[in-house]
Amino acid sequence: MEKQELLYEGKAKKVYATQDPKFLIVAYKDDTTAFNGLKKGTIQGKGVINNRMSNLLMSRLEQQGIPTHLVEELNDRETLVKKVSIVPLEVIVRNIAAGSFSKRYGVEEGVVFDAPTLEFSYKNDALGDPLLNDDHAVALGLASREELALIQTYALAVNKVLGRIWAECGVILVDFKVEFGRLGDGAIVLADEISPDTCRLWDAKTHEKLDKDRFRRDLGGVEAAYVQVMERLANSL
Ligand code: TMP
Repeated sequence: MEKQELLYEGKAKKVYATQDPKFLIVAYKDDTTAFNGLKKGTIQGKGVINNRMSNLLMSRLEQQGIPTHLVEELNDRETLVKKVSIVPLEVIVRNIAAGSFSKRYGVEEGVVFDAPTLEFSYKNDALGDPLLNDDHAVALGLASREELALIQTYALAVNKVLGRIWAECGVILVDFKVEFGRLGDGAIVLADEISPDTCRLWDAKTHEKLDKDRFRRDLGGVEAAYVQVMERLANSL
């Protein structure tokens, strides 16, 4: 399928129409932002890595019975996906305290939870993606109770599958954010991307950060970290 008009340009991806209204083409960029767009930069080669990694992980999730938007990788940076209408929720699963959880609740980074935690943020840049609960999401008309229950079930299943995949690579899945969308018939599927932009990935032995926190926190070695996790994943398959 061929790219047609540009429908949307986000911080890290562009989305194009195709000849078929049921499908879109996503193009991954090297651009990156943090802190709701306040910090801007480029991570050389990131688009190629995120495209590849997200597709590898989504196809593994599909094999485990979790429906996704993935259709097929078209080239280094572009993937054909099913068109969805995104549920405006950032669905975050955490296995270990880090990032905004540590900051908000005053918990040291690295504290391991007995069981995964799940939280929602309202995907709304103007409001700074505020945290919200199920009642708030329903009150705002973002999703129905049934959809929220399904999204929670899928998100925890994603955590189990991804946790195992990364463990085989000597990497700890600390936390991640996923997004879901509705197909034309209303079915909920995993959408957006799964990459070092959207996951915290720590080396299992040293706890070295191998994800976008290296950019957010000016730790250096950003490109090398993305290359390293991609190589570890590719070598484990
Ligand atoms: P947080 O600790 O900053 O809330 O981040 C939780 C996870 O969500 C972490 O793996 C990074 C990811 N994330 C995104 O994918 N997009 C975002 O805009 C933010 C803030 C976090």
